[in-house]
Amino acid sequence: MTEPLIRHSPSRGPSSPDVWGVYDEPTGSVQYVAACPVTRKAALIDVVLGFDPRSFATNTRSMDAVLDLVGHEKLVVEHILDTHPHADHLMASARLREATGAPNAIGAKVREIAALWRDLYHLPDAFDPNRDFDRLLADGDTFSIGDLPVRVMLSPGHTLGSISFVVGEDVAFVHDTLMYPDMGTSRCDFPGGSAAELWDSVQAILALPGPTRLFVGHDYGAEGREDPMWEATVADHLDRNKHVHAGADRDAWIAKREERDATLALPDRMLAALQVNLRAGRLPEAEADGHRYLKMPLNRF
Ligand SMILES: [Fe+2]
Repeated sequence: MTEPLIRHSPSRGPSSPDVWGVYDEPTGSVQYVAACPVTRKAALIDVVLGFDPRSFATNTRSMDAVLDLVGHEKLVVEHILDTHPHADHLMASARLREATGAPNAIGAKVREIAALWRDLYHLPDAFDPNRDFDRLLADGDTFSIGDLPVRVMLSPGHTLGSISFVVGEDVAFVHDTLMYPDMGTSRCDFPGGSAAELWDSVQAILALPGPTRLFVGHDYGAEGREDPMWEATVADHLDRNKHVHAGADRDAWIAKREERDATLALPDRMLAALQVNLRAGRLPEAEADGHRYLKMPLNRF
């Protein structure tokens, strides 16, 4: 097993977080550690529970790499955060809560996303976000990582309840809204998604100060670029984001986004991922034979 790719984006001062991105190669996801440079308190954001889509076996390789980094940097985990219930990977939230004792959180609209998937799985009693998450965050909510203030921005489009975290004076975690500038923006075609909403979310993110370091949720490389990339400033995106650079046209982008989304296959982990992620990454209880099972809709997608 090769070591995961990790990049450190250093703090620029006492109100600016240290950020580490830890790349999960199988899903092209970026997991983040954001730390207060003064207190060494940290938040873990969008950490992955490994899952083989063929064998349905889980593993903790990526999550362990994040916890190793936390140990190595002598950080104290204060929050376990997810920006949305991910469709492409299982969430490590519940296991991280067990491992660190820190509370976990996600956007409050997870309740509406859970209602939608309860129908799609026909599991009328499944998913209780109030039980599985310690905190459900709404637009404008604030908390802190050590001495750093954090502001929650609702940024729907990819899902109806995605949230971004603005941390300290110069960082935002914007998950599946923008992608790296040469890849543009994220897809909006999952249940509850909306290209028009994503446009508005992206505009609000790009209204942050120009030097703000934006960290995106995914990268799969790009044409002419093999290395995954995930950090660019607001100014970089306005200058050269392929889809939403300054002056880009809303209606033309929506048309292009919807046209492109219609050609994309569903993520191969999606139907397993949502059923687990709406429980904060907790697997279903074992049945009488001691094994755990998922339920899958046929011919719905
Ligand atoms: Fe996502």
